[in-house]
Amino acid sequence: MRTINIFDTTLRDGEQSAGVNLNLSEKLEIAKQLERLNVDIIEAGFPAASKGDFISVREIATLIRNCSVTGLARSVMSDIDAAWEALREGEGPRLHVFLATSPIHRQYKLKQSKEEVIETAVSAVKYAAGKFPLIQWSAEDACRTELPFLARIVEEVIQAGARVINIPDTVGYISPGEYGKVFQYLRENVPSIDKVILSAHCHDDLGMAIANSLAAIENGAGQIEGTINGIGERAGNAALEELAVALHIRQDHYQAGTRLKLEEISRTSSLVSKLTGMAVPANKAIVGRNAFAHESGIHQDGVLKEKTTYEIISPELVGFHSNSMVLGKHSGRHAFKSRLEELGLAVPEEEIKPLFAIFKDLADRKKEMTDDDLAAIVLEERLSKDQQFYELLQIQVQYGTNQVPTATVTLSGRENEVVQEAATGAGSIEALYNTLEKSVNGTVNLLDYRIQSVGAGRDALAQVFVKMKYNGRETSGRGLAQDVLEASAKAYLNAVNRVIYLEEKTKVAL
Ligand code: KIV
Ligand code: ZN
Repeated sequence: MRTINIFDTTLRDGEQSAGVNLNLSEKLEIAKQLERLNVDIIEAGFPAASKGDFISVREIATLIRNCSVTGLARSVMSDIDAAWEALREGEGPRLHVFLATSPIHRQYKLKQSKEEVIETAVSAVKYAAGKFPLIQWSAEDACRTELPFLARIVEEVIQAGARVINIPDTVGYISPGEYGKVFQYLRENVPSIDKVILSAHCHDDLGMAIANSLAAIENGAGQIEGTINGIGERAGNAALEELAVALHIRQDHYQAGTRLKLEEISRTSSLVSKLTGMAVPANKAIVGRNAFAHESGIHQDGVLKEKTTYEIISPELVGFHSNSMVLGKHSGRHAFKSRLEELGLAVPEEEIKPLFAIFKDLADRKKEMTDDDLAAIVLEERLSKDQQFYELLQIQVQYGTNQVPTATVTLSGRENEVVQEAATGAGSIEALYNTLEKSVNGTVNLLDYRIQSVGAGRDALAQVFVKMKYNGRETSGRGLAQDVLEASAKAYLNAVNRVIYLEEKTKVAL
């Protein structure tokens, strides 16, 4: 059995998904969960891309101790310097430096000859080797690169000091058979290949990212890159949960496994979905709501007689448990705290008191407090402290089938002043959002609005996701409440507050 290293790029390639825009606390929350999942490497961001990226990579590198943290750099000294400054305090700092190699990128993007591309790559790796103990080099668009040239440049960067060689299918173009042959070719034609770990990085434009990653493993790859839920540029990256479970279930075939704690998969998937606002499709393999649902009578009958007739993966393997009613309004603080610990939601002592008050208030109104509810309120409370420029104090919405819907909102404003407005709309949400727009001093275009329940039941908590443009800047927001209108208002303000936070940060940087 071989052990395959898992390189998670949810916070870098994943964050490049359209409309995803995580703040520092959200990135830290995801990084901690990736550490719990036991990935080998976390790619925390692209430190030279912006001040915000630099800070989040540095904070993640400082916080995470049980896996290696890396950051992306172009083949330029200033990027490598920024990455070193961000990563130097981390556990096993490693650099991920890349350069495009395909003819199309050489001609149109880099405007460099083959020789110049080799020279740029080699000098970047040599420069980085003076700082980093470990360097991963990636040939961007490797899969549309001439194989002899790919082999040549790979040999040169190994000689220069790279110890992991990544062969990305940047545009999601290659097929599994072909991708396997690229790895085979490199193993046969790069003299120093035994000094390095080969890595696969697949995009899903043609729906082949997982099949390609598995083909790479069959042909000698020792590391797979991907993201949780497969989020990422365009159609996304290889979904790590799918890869890890495929290796686990088909050990007989692949003779390879990962170090991932598979039982942490469902929690990781739901955290990433919640914080990025990217819903997991119901039929998605491993983590979709229907992944373990047997609908047809024949299948149900078979599963009742013997699970393995139609079930190759048990939900428990990846951490899905039936969402039992765990606590209620009579539960004490001690029971609350120990349930959080059992759920892996360890909370510092000073946070227990305010959380318990929220729990009690909710438990008074809601019959059943499920594990999902607990996880949702802990997360929301932890993350809502950031960026509270506008804060919701009160809303009142009047709606009747023969009435013009009207909303009145009271907020605490940017200078802690009380802001009160009222407006109408064609429906309750429109009235509410028209009122909020009058309150937040700017123009808002709503691009998307989504509502979802946390768990089941008519008294379930409501989680609202919005995407909008506020003062010309695209942003997204999340709101949680028992009432859908309150959750909607919170999501709206969360999105507005993110833009104000970015604007304030830019002012400080200037
Ligand atoms: O897809 C890609 O080529 C990348 C590189 C930067 C590794 O993400
Ligand atoms: Zn990529």
